[in-house]
Amino acid sequence: CLAAGNAAAQGAYPNHPISLVVPFAAGGPTDVVARSLGASMAKTLGQSIVIENRTGAGGTLASQHVARAAPDGYTFLIHHNGMATAPALYRKLSFNPLTDFAYVGQVADVPMTLLGRKDLPADGMPAFIKYARENGNKINLANAGLGAVSQLCGMLLQESLGVQFTTVPYAGTAPAMTALLGGQVDVLCDQTTQTIPQIKADRVKLYGVTTLERIKTLPDAPTLQESGLKGFEVKVWHGVYAPKGTPPEAIAKFNAALRAALKDPAFTQKMAELGAEIVPESKQTPEGLQTWLKSEVDKWGGVIRKAGVYAD
Ligand code: MLT
Repeated sequence: CLAAGNAAAQGAYPNHPISLVVPFAAGGPTDVVARSLGASMAKTLGQSIVIENRTGAGGTLASQHVARAAPDGYTFLIHHNGMATAPALYRKLSFNPLTDFAYVGQVADVPMTLLGRKDLPADGMPAFIKYARENGNKINLANAGLGAVSQLCGMLLQESLGVQFTTVPYAGTAPAMTALLGGQVDVLCDQTTQTIPQIKADRVKLYGVTTLERIKTLPDAPTLQESGLKGFEVKVWHGVYAPKGTPPEAIAKFNAALRAALKDPAFTQKMAELGAEIVPESKQTPEGLQTWLKSEVDKWGGVIRKAGVYAD
């Protein structure tokens, strides 16, 4: 790492490809953001960014891997709200999101959508609420494990409906979506970065969006709040992290490439089409991410402890 520090100081960083770890399966929402972001950042950095999908335990295995990786400026992690929910969900977490990383910046905010399989016998949210209450644990709810935002959304949904579904975990919502399309599961709450193409192709039933306001890309979709689930809100945010001790020069260069990508039409247009919103400049900084992460750890810690959901 000293060598990398020196290399960075000499302006040679980066001199070989950089690994960007994605905590969920290829083809899913986090992967879609990561690949598009990586392609844009590579133009600024003059090195390729290799996406590494490290799945398992709701994203915590990937975070652990990056927390323990060499702090040489060649390993980064992109993660969402799961970074903030992990301490409450996993009692034996092997890393601390607030102390074991170097922070690069935030990327984009993404709404979620509540979907049913195409032939689920409930049209529209009022019918879905009735169906959910009548069928309870006969309904299979897919998610990407404890720590996934699909799990978080599903947890809030069950709480606000007062029902308990049967949960089916996958390594990411890409395989969960495959299961929904194949009719092996009934319901999935997932990010628009994966769901919009399926919704537009009419391959799934759309019950609503998880933001408090309707979204531009799906103007006809009601919010869950307006369908009676008062205050229901899940918004997905993304942060980029490095192992603690990564040379500041490397963080600064990676951050500059991130900020350039957040202005690059190749990236921003794709995000807009998929319902994602680039974060304001104040959040694109290491401090912006760190402050936000702390507030999210506090917020979701309270919600999760109240729900009593955790892994031993
Ligand atoms: C994914 O990329 O598969 C999702 O972000 C998983 C999730 O958090 O639901």
